[in-house]
Amino acid sequence: MTLIFAHRGSKGTHPENTLAAFKEAVRVKADGIELDIQFSKDEDLMVIHDGDVKRTTNGEGLVKDLTLKELKALDAGSWFDKAYSEEKIPLFKEVLALLEEEKYTGILNIEIKTDEYDYMGIESKILETLKEFDLSCDILFSSFNTETMERVMALDTTTPKAVIMDKSERKINFGKDQIAIGGIHPSIEWIKENKEIAREFPKAVRPWTANTKEDMALCFELGLAAFHTDFPERAMMEKDAF
Ligand code: G3P
Ligand code: MG
Repeated sequence: MTLIFAHRGSKGTHPENTLAAFKEAVRVKADGIELDIQFSKDEDLMVIHDGDVKRTTNGEGLVKDLTLKELKALDAGSWFDKAYSEEKIPLFKEVLALLEEEKYTGILNIEIKTDEYDYMGIESKILETLKEFDLSCDILFSSFNTETMERVMALDTTTPKAVIMDKSERKINFGKDQIAIGGIHPSIEWIKENKEIAREFPKAVRPWTANTKEDMALCFELGLAAFHTDFPERAMMEKDAF
């Protein structure tokens, strides 16, 4: 059964990577929830996709140059819709508290966003933070950065891991060859160009991002392990209908 991963919470219907988006993913019972983590100036774990706050907040500057107080002062919802003006950039631990409270039983896919800035020590801080919570969900680590994945592999031998790529053959081979890596997260475009390879791939294949009915149907037909989507409610309905 192909699982549905709610990309950045529910990016198509709510401001991405906010508590509102993660609550929506829980509400629609998405099989998985994906989020992106970066370091603030003081190495707080912040849930945000871009290295720069400009696109998804009313502020300016790089996440890594702003303090927690400065980041928390920003409005992370109005850019999407005025109704979400109270949304802030969440701390990783705030999302974990939500999932703990909701007793979420799916998979939390933690993307370590070190492809733009290589935040030294972010991997161990994420692992330490997870220990503070009594979660009902499973964890899956992923990153575009293979060095990050090597560091996670060295620190943790039990949690499932995947490598993300657009179409990079080097990363696809890294995912295939590394025993400790259980899957690959390629772009949906790579899937369309490599249907039979994806169907036969020896490990879990979970592309991003399937948003149209056709792309979702392709993932179901190929029997992929999962796909990421900006529209998890719609995708869960498509899965039920397939
Ligand atoms: O983890 C899948 C997907 O989130 C990777 O791309 O840029 O949306 O983080 P991006
Ligand atoms: Mg991501």
